[in-house]
Amino acid sequence: MHPIDLRSDTVTLPTNEMLEAISKAELGDDVFQEDPTVNKLEHLAAKTFNKESAIFMPSGTMANLVAVLTHCQRGDEVILGDQSHTFLYEAGGISSFGGVHSRQIKNYDDGTMRLEDIKNSVRKKDVHFPPSRLVCLENTHNRCFGMPLDINYINKVSEIVKNNSMMLHVDGARIFNAAAALNKSVAELTSEVDSVSFCLSKGLSAPSGSLLCGKKEFIEKARFNRKALGGGMRQSGILAATGIVALNKMPKKIIKDHQNASTLAKGLNAISGISIDLEKVKTNIIYFKLNHSKIDSVTLINSMLKKNIKFFELGPNWFRLVTHAGINEEDIEHVLIQFKDLFSKI
Ligand SMILES: Cc1ncc(COP(=O)(O)O)c(C=O)c1O
Repeated sequence: MHPIDLRSDTVTLPTNEMLEAISKAELGDDVFQEDPTVNKLEHLAAKTFNKESAIFMPSGTMANLVAVLTHCQRGDEVILGDQSHTFLYEAGGISSFGGVHSRQIKNYDDGTMRLEDIKNSVRKKDVHFPPSRLVCLENTHNRCFGMPLDINYINKVSEIVKNNSMMLHVDGARIFNAAAALNKSVAELTSEVDSVSFCLSKGLSAPSGSLLCGKKEFIEKARFNRKALGGGMRQSGILAATGIVALNKMPKKIIKDHQNASTLAKGLNAISGISIDLEKVKTNIIYFKLNHSKIDSVTLINSMLKKNIKFFELGPNWFRLVTHAGINEEDIEHVLIQFKDLFSKI
């Protein structure tokens, strides 16, 4: 049995078509904007999101960092969720590299921040306060059960942002999952946002890379900031070639990952000692709690590792499973058999 890696959708491997595209990619120096394959990917991304322009980035972390650096000056404040990836998992780059102050607001389980909380966090112009410049949303929300944010909510946040002459950025690392779950296009989900980053390297299965999309002038400034951070990758058409296949072929397959997650969640939740809020399994991310008198988290993780099944414990007795293109229906069946076997033996 091949390894069943449920730690993250970042473990996805490139498809054969992506590998073939690499060997045929036309290349040039992208710092001179002369790599035709990167240019093609950037145009495709901008068109897909109905934005003026896009820029290829080595990672989602750099795409978010460049977005913040481009929207903000040193000393500005960004309003973002206390469970957001940018706040929790991006090494504090927005403050260390950008001198940008973060204002964290409570993220609720559905991935939202209350509109009232956002409004109340916007600073008045006052010598004591850093200027509020940017709001960041995350769609889908990784720490909040992979929940998708719907258009209605995003547009309401956008209204607040516009009324206060601020900007709105969306960390859309998994925005294609949100689009699939909500049956909307990514362009519809981001029509009222100033910038959006998305990852090729997660549900879309490309080996690496993200794109940042927005207005032409914003992307020109972002290109400068990417260079300053060392993100000018020269013949990156090698990677962009996989991104073109990813954008053209993978979004329509994502719904399968959601179906697999749903089957897995229902099956696990039926096991005594495991609990999952099934209402919250809307995309490819499942969080479950372990509450068993004889099986602790070390036993669970190690027993499953012996069966070649990998996943993370994110907190005490609190686990995350992520489905993706490398996981099929038989894998889900196999995982359920192994869990049932372990829990019935003890
Ligand atoms: C929501 C979210 N944003 C951003 C990132 C960063 O992406 P990368 O790992 O490409 O830097 C991740 C990575 O898992 C993520 O889950």
